[in-house]
Amino acid sequence: MDAPVTVLSVFGTRPEAIKMAPLVKRLEQTPGIRSLVCVTAQHRQMLDSVLARFAIHPDYDLDLMRQGQTLTTITVGVLEGMEKVLTDCTPDLVLVHGDTSTSTAAALAAFYQQIPVGHVEAGLRSFDRYSPFPEEMNRLLTSRMAELHFAPTVRARDNLLREGICQGVHVVGNTVIDALQQMVHESYRFHSGELATLPLSQGRWIVMTAHRRENLGEHLQAICRGVLRLVEAHPDVHLVYPVHPNPAVRAVAEAVLGGHERVHLIAPVEVEDMHNLIKRCYMVMTDSGGLQEEAPALGKPIVVLRTETERPEVVEAGMALLAGVQEDDVASAGERLLTDAALYHRMAHAINPYGDGHSSEQIAQIILEWSRARRDMA
Ligand code: UD1
Ligand code: UDP
Repeated sequence: MDAPVTVLSVFGTRPEAIKMAPLVKRLEQTPGIRSLVCVTAQHRQMLDSVLARFAIHPDYDLDLMRQGQTLTTITVGVLEGMEKVLTDCTPDLVLVHGDTSTSTAAALAAFYQQIPVGHVEAGLRSFDRYSPFPEEMNRLLTSRMAELHFAPTVRARDNLLREGICQGVHVVGNTVIDALQQMVHESYRFHSGELATLPLSQGRWIVMTAHRRENLGEHLQAICRGVLRLVEAHPDVHLVYPVHPNPAVRAVAEAVLGGHERVHLIAPVEVEDMHNLIKRCYMVMTDSGGLQEEAPALGKPIVVLRTETERPEVVEAGMALLAGVQEDDVASAGERLLTDAALYHRMAHAINPYGDGHSSEQIAQIILEWSRARRDMA
């Protein structure tokens, strides 16, 4: 019998963890695969909360997060840390996810040791190298280094083909749908005490998140002012905003939105609470990538608090309004969803473009086939 193929999954931030977790669980159960996990801990508490929910016990933990970390310090830390990990466990394949500093630096570390890289959620493009920053460049660089590309949609695959990346590209949907299906239940009870006490059955609830690096400062202030106008104009509207722990985010959120009786600024919530919160809300306003996939899958319209998106499928499918980052634009997009019942209904009933929740299974099978083909050629 052939030796198993050793797959090292590397991730470090909350969104990577949420989308890699169902895949790691699937790899663990797949005969013929030996699954190892390395976390960089680019995020700490937000990462650990996901690891705990999915009962993932990393084989390696680089423990990198520092207050005030920079793109350089994260990248250098991942490169140095991964060099030792890769030398120690010599995987056949390194899996990275998406577009963070962790994923690009981990792919580069693997490339330096000539270890093949598989890229999960490959092929997303905003076509603006500075927005989202630095994620668009991270994606481009990781695509160049990867041998296996797991694209969530046909459009993402086509982006890769246009860049001349034609080998090893597979359309598999998004693993976030796999995660959502395990999490959302009608009778769900929130773990977070703060969420459990919110009167979610009264009025209309907006779930907001905003943290993007290119929005920090003036844009985030304008976004918050636009959202506050909606709450002030509609007495039945409540806002719940789990605020990213980055001090630059927290300071603005508290300064602009703090103190209003229908605004609830809360600490980040664990993933299961978050998915069920989205399921129970009226709509989502966000600059997050992951929420642009989750909200449509849960039938919730989204206002995207950005000037571009690498997920145009959601806008084209009629599930999202791309509002931009100016106060008036944010307020008017939100206003449309609060006042135009026909628009709301249409947006809430469009079809999610990210698959049926079997992405992890497909990726595991593709890895096995790839490994067999490599061994046959050796
Ligand atoms: C990172 C990713 C971004 C992703 C986001 C998800 C990069 C360049 N950016 O950005 O693509 O959308 O994660 O949230 O990789 N912090 C904590 N505890 C935590 C996590 C963060 O205190 O568990 C604070 C720390 O002060 C940290 C700061 O947040 O220094 C920023 O974290 P960092 O990973 O550098 O950037 P994000 O904006 O989170
Ligand atoms: N999320 C969470 N708790 C929160 C806020 C967000 O579990 O308090 C989840 C959210 O459901 C999604 C992911 O975190 O799965 C998105 O992460 P984030 O917005 O940090 O990053 P992005 O998707 O923008 O890269």
